[in-house]
Amino acid sequence: MRQAGRYLAEYRNLRERWGFLELCKNPQAAAEVTLQPVERLGVDAAILFADILLVLEPLGVGLEFTKGDGPHIQRPVRSAPDVARLPAVAVDDAVGFVFETVGRARKALADRVPLIGFAGAPFTLASYLIEGGPSRDFLRTKRFMRAEREAWHALLERLAGITTAYLNGQIAAGAQAVQLFDSWVGTLSPADYREFVLPHSRAVITRLSPEVPVIHFGVGTATLLSSMKEAGGDVIGLDWRVELGSTWERLGHDVAVQGNLDPALLLSSTDDIRRAAKAILDGAARRPGHIFNLGHGVHQETPVENVRTLVEIVHELSAR
Ligand code: CP3
Repeated sequence: MRQAGRYLAEYRNLRERWGFLELCKNPQAAAEVTLQPVERLGVDAAILFADILLVLEPLGVGLEFTKGDGPHIQRPVRSAPDVARLPAVAVDDAVGFVFETVGRARKALADRVPLIGFAGAPFTLASYLIEGGPSRDFLRTKRFMRAEREAWHALLERLAGITTAYLNGQIAAGAQAVQLFDSWVGTLSPADYREFVLPHSRAVITRLSPEVPVIHFGVGTATLLSSMKEAGGDVIGLDWRVELGSTWERLGHDVAVQGNLDPALLLSSTDDIRRAAKAILDGAARRPGHIFNLGHGVHQETPVENVRTLVEIVHELSAR
């Protein structure tokens, strides 16, 4: 999950001097941010500091990150001609700065912990392009899917190609695992997931360099998990709305799982955090193939000490 961010004072300090995009585009600073949570929290892996939306900027849609409101697309994709007009993107040139961050972060980590790269899945990227920003009901996206079926599939094919190149570039630069974020796909019915999304996510995952594990994650995906497994991934990410043990059983122990503490628990007492972490570890029952994680990113209001405490608790309870 996102583990850098505004809940970390050292990140806020950097952000006072730099815009978010500016920070992402400066490999030295971005590598520094990548290491902040490792040093501060003692986590077992570093997460590349970048964003899933960086690959949309070269499409010329006017990507910006506005203070407080998050990402905004100035010229959203709203019609078949809009899709046809999107320019070809040479990912290696357009986001070469991300690959350079990977190299620098690996060097700075010096194999203390592995580095996880990531990208947005075609559906989640398309939802930003079409909605123009965050959305609750994804009505424009869902209308487009059906009203412009052909353009929808053409758009997702384009995005699948871009995401594949983005992830393979990170792997070539040294990422030791990659996570595919389909953060908002939980808004879809299982039937719509299978028709409008699954083939495109699968097209990404099957074309990734085979040497690193792939984590496939979304939020609110309880009814989609078996289809997401079919789309691919060595690890399926679970959010906190499902119980880890029984969900893993249902998915099959031939796939690894990641998750799934409610990030809101980090705003509670140490006792509550400990109880919730223990319940998840009990659910995993010391099987190989469980990555302890939050079910989604760290909230901005989170006290840093609580995240540190969680890391210590998980290390203590899962020590062999
Ligand atoms: O630990 C890390 O280094 C995190 C790296 C990371 C970022 N974005 C940096 C970031 C990761 C893994 C992402 C992924 C991402 N970006 C996702 C998928 C993960 C998820 O949470 O579901 C999504 C949907 C995005 C798009 C995005 N970027 C949104 C919706 C926002 C605004 C939300 C917010 O918290 O402000 C961003 C901005 C963003 N990306 C921030 C960070 C640290 C906060 C920007 C700031 O400093 O103001």
